[in-house]
Amino acid sequence: MISQQRLSLASTPLSAIAGDVFDGLSRTPKSLPPKLLYDERGSALFEQITCLPEYYPTRTEAGIFMMYAEEICSRLGRDVSVAELGAGTATKTRILLRSLVQRQSAVNYCPLDVSATALQVAKREVERDLETVCVCPYVGDFEDLTFLELQSPPRVVLYIGSSIGNLERDEAVRLLKNIARHLDSGDQLLLGADLVKNTDVLNAAYNDSAGITAAFNKNLLVRINRELGGHFELDAFCHVSFWNEQASRMELHLESRYRQSVRVDSLDMTLRFDQGERIHTENSYKYTMERLESLLQCGGFEVENTWTDPHCWFAVSLGVIT
Ligand code: AVJ
Repeated sequence: MISQQRLSLASTPLSAIAGDVFDGLSRTPKSLPPKLLYDERGSALFEQITCLPEYYPTRTEAGIFMMYAEEICSRLGRDVSVAELGAGTATKTRILLRSLVQRQSAVNYCPLDVSATALQVAKREVERDLETVCVCPYVGDFEDLTFLELQSPPRVVLYIGSSIGNLERDEAVRLLKNIARHLDSGDQLLLGADLVKNTDVLNAAYNDSAGITAAFNKNLLVRINRELGGHFELDAFCHVSFWNEQASRMELHLESRYRQSVRVDSLDMTLRFDQGERIHTENSYKYTMERLESLLQCGGFEVENTWTDPHCWFAVSLGVIT
């Protein structure tokens, strides 16, 4: 199956999520892969999350870019091309690109994302802001990263925003190795990760008072209702999120308020929930600087430098293929 296509050709088969949903909801405990959170509405809700007062990661990482953009760019190769995994609307990336265009006459920027709408915004805003940046978006997930090979070397791959936090350690290593496989010696990866911090700060960030994170989480049920003929009642589940110290991660769940059965027509499935039973929808791993650097090394990159903010809430690490 083609998992990524040029923006203009984007199309997703209706049943694309059926296998993942069936597998996840057949398990005990029930779970769903976090990538399913990002349909068009989910991507828009995540954009709203990034602006919430409680959600510090986006602001903090943007602060690191504003503080160190020149230093970061000075460590990149000469005349690099830039690719980005999970670019969204590329708001933070523009800070880096703005610095990069001071150093080289033109930049080719290829953002990859599952949301075509987000990519349209990214292209429009980057090209409006920065005349010498040429944006070539790709719609898709991270299964197929061959688009990296189409970039002219030396390449810089951005994987920022701490999306790496969704992955288990072994999955994260595998993804970095997969990125490395499509790169040449001298190519670089800029990796952003959220750091371990005060529990109250973490809990507030994933339980915002406006309820946007709850809506983002419950959008999974909306999506299953729409795409797979599900009969989930949104009020029958609540958003639950907490810090798991042992595993060093925030967890997101959807918890059944009472004992109930839910039909999912396209999967020919009747799901049974006990009162308080949860669907585990997302993990957001929090790193230490040491663990972030060791992850890069295990993934096949040599660490060049790591930048952080004054509170040490977030880190951005630059690795190179030797
Ligand atoms: C997009 C994975 C970085 O883990 O903070 C935000 C997703 N989930 N609020 C994160 C998310 C709930 C976010 N990442």
